[in-house]
Amino acid sequence: MIPLSIPQLEGNEWKYVKDCIDTGWISSAGSYVNQFEQMVAEYAGAKYGVACMNGTVGLHIAQILSGVTQDDHVLVPNITFIATLNAVKYTGATPILIDVDANNWQMDLDLLEDFLSNSTSSKSIEGATFTFHNTTGKRIKAIMPVHVLGNMGDMARLSEICEKYHLDIIEDSTEALGSIFKDKHSGTFGKFGVFSFNGNKIISTGGGGVIVTDDKELAEKAKHLTTQAKVSAMDYIHDEIGYNYRLVNVLAAIGVAQMETFPNLLENKRKMDAFYRKELEGVGDIIFQVVDERVNPNCWLFTFKTSKMRELLAYLNENGVQSRPFWMPMNQLEMFKKEIYVSSEDVSSNIYNTSISIPSSAGITLEQQKTVVSTIKEFYKTQG
Ligand SMILES: Cc1ncc(COP(=O)(O)O)c(C=O)c1O
Repeated sequence: MIPLSIPQLEGNEWKYVKDCIDTGWISSAGSYVNQFEQMVAEYAGAKYGVACMNGTVGLHIAQILSGVTQDDHVLVPNITFIATLNAVKYTGATPILIDVDANNWQMDLDLLEDFLSNSTSSKSIEGATFTFHNTTGKRIKAIMPVHVLGNMGDMARLSEICEKYHLDIIEDSTEALGSIFKDKHSGTFGKFGVFSFNGNKIISTGGGGVIVTDDKELAEKAKHLTTQAKVSAMDYIHDEIGYNYRLVNVLAAIGVAQMETFPNLLENKRKMDAFYRKELEGVGDIIFQVVDERVNPNCWLFTFKTSKMRELLAYLNENGVQSRPFWMPMNQLEMFKKEIYVSSEDVSSNIYNTSISIPSSAGITLEQQKTVVSTIKEFYKTQG
């Protein structure tokens, strides 16, 4: 079976993990943790990085530090992996779901702007201006754009909208290490960006995340909160409710080795994307995700639309090509059915009903890519 997306562990991973074990530094205090977060921050062009157990908890901490409370709303795209919404719910806040753009599958900025201009009002409280939803009366504190599949939307426009409406940007960049809009790396457009190093990501620590920010104080607070909010190295004194969210050294060691090989893996991904696009263009009724010319994506997981999605999915999985459907839109999940969903044509539903992801591991070989393409072509031949 050609796997969908597996890690490529062919650098110094074993050497660094062995070093942790040999020295006994396997837990959250250890030099690889600092090294890993610095490498990620530096790569992204952010000033600070804080390593945590996974991307989900990174999104949780970023919201807490943005001041999101149970009385607030957070804006999120309706197409995302569940973790984005779960992280909103951990804060007690209420998500508002925005439908996605039919071409690039990122949050629809026309809908976002219409919604903010027609359904919200601004109010000043103690010298600061906030945006409030007209119907619920709740403050809209933050927005979490998700760089779906490593692609990016118009971040220049999004930044302008957020400035106008006083929204903190927390980028869910979990899938987008290596993705760039103009000359700026994903994760660096707002207050925080969060990367994931989950097993299926472009590089992996097994499980892991890094929060990036340019704000020193926020970075220190993120480190504090993720380490049980302990104030003293010696005494067990804690100054607030903290979390045991810090990444451990043995996983950060894998991360350091993965960061060393990342440039090569990213290049392989971009070549894979170009190959799939060239070979699958015009095959059956395949439609690709559109990439804005200002975006250089990391090509994380190759996903396309076809009216034969379910049949193709079965065919590929039966014929040695591991493939998966796309995420069910958030507004269709039982626990989010009652949330406000801003949409005019329910694009999310169409994407969900037609999209399929095909093998895209960072180390995928050209031979494997050729097999994937020929199996897809065979399928469409059987369709007449
Ligand atoms: C869009 C999105 N958000 C959040 C996450 C959560 O990251 P993690 O699995 O590291 O918690 C993921 C990936 O798993 C994701 O794809």
